Amino acid sequence: MDTGLPGLRCRSGRVDGVLAEELFAQLTREPDVDAPDLVAVDATDRLLLDEAATAITSHPDAVAVLDDAHGALTLGAVALHGATGVRVHQDLLVGERALAANAERTGLTGTYTQHALDTGLLRGARVVLAKAPKSLDALRELVQVVATAAHPEVTLYVGGRVKHMTLGMNDVLAEGFTDVHATLARQKSRVLVARGPRAVRSSFPVCREHADLGLTVCAHGAAFAGVKVDRGTRALLRALPSAVPDAATAVDLGCGTGVLAVALAAARPGLTVVGVDQSAAAVASAVATAAANGLADRVRVVRDDAAGSLEEGSVDLVVCNPPFHAGVAVSETLAHRLFAGAARVLRPGGELWCVYNSHLPHRDALRRIVGPTRQVSRDPTFTVTASTRS
Ligand SMILES: C[S@@+](CC[C@H](N)C(=O)[O-])C[C@H]1O[C@@H](n2cnc3c(N)ncnc32)[C@H](O)[C@@H]1O
Repeated sequence: MDTGLPGLRCRSGRVDGVLAEELFAQLTREPDVDAPDLVAVDATDRLLLDEAATAITSHPDAVAVLDDAHGALTLGAVALHGATGVRVHQDLLVGERALAANAERTGLTGTYTQHALDTGLLRGARVVLAKAPKSLDALRELVQVVATAAHPEVTLYVGGRVKHMTLGMNDVLAEGFTDVHATLARQKSRVLVARGPRAVRSSFPVCREHADLGLTVCAHGAAFAGVKVDRGTRALLRALPSAVPDAATAVDLGCGTGVLAVALAAARPGLTVVGVDQSAAAVASAVATAAANGLADRVRVVRDDAAGSLEEGSVDLVVCNPPFHAGVAVSETLAHRLFAGAARVLRPGGELWCVYNSHLPHRDALRRIVGPTRQVSRDPTFTVTASTRS
């Protein structure tokens, strides 16, 4: 096949070093955040493509890819192993956009289709490549969908960094498959290989009632904190009664399971509330949480990157528990993207109420990006601030 890469033709079998490097050199993370320790293609992508090479070339039209970070798996399967019509699900919207941009750059647009994490994605799939999700529940949901919908002879390859892989992952894979084994590690990455799907049922979304908060929280596997309510979220919930009491419109930016959005809608009957998250699992969870609390008609949930699709200057109150990351530099980059989104959608005089780990240097950024920022509460772990759009 024509790989779309100038002068390169697809060679089947193991990833050809030169061809692979020419493909991977063209891939970028854009529009995802960038930082010195972040890459568009990692050792796990390379190992997954190597381990699955024979399976892909044997069933090139029955390949599905889950949680490809920026497109290396999808485009690698196409360009290096001849896959066609690859079905893809990526939880994160920026991942979808990065894959589309990388496909265009490498001339591979149209070689894959995007799907929800459902049976349509997996029906009849013989080869499934997946980046190991962060949580066991996210892996469990993935396993349940693959085991239910894929071909009985499917092989599922789940790759990750050795330091992030636990024996619990093997156990979760064994819930859905009779045969699970691990490959040898290479460059600190490893692949779990699962075959023999069992008859399993989907157990997501899971819902839990929090009597202390008067809320039921529903979560799909990949949603932040699952059915628990994060301690930072609780700190912001305590502060919410004094947040712009006369607001007519509010946005929960990075809404996760929708706890803040639903709490606001429940407490303020006249308020129009929008929950925004770039994660498909978060959006589905927030929709389920709103429904479980009888507020489906009061909370609109949108899958979006930093509220980019909402009208500029249209919102009175934004609440946000921004994402964090082990590295402070990355945490800042991720959070600043949301602060900029809040600044864009707030009307002048509108406020961003934000909670974050007290050790993070967000206050200066809030002042710079949004406007004058005051401290609402602070303890050794969490700080809540209110920033007025200037
Ligand atoms: C720390 S969690 C908070 C979730 C929820 N608000 C809560 O308090 O439980 C941060 C959320 O922000 C979302 N997020 C991160 N970056 C985003 C972006 N650029 N646009 C939209 N949502 C984003 C994540 O998917 C995640 O659900």
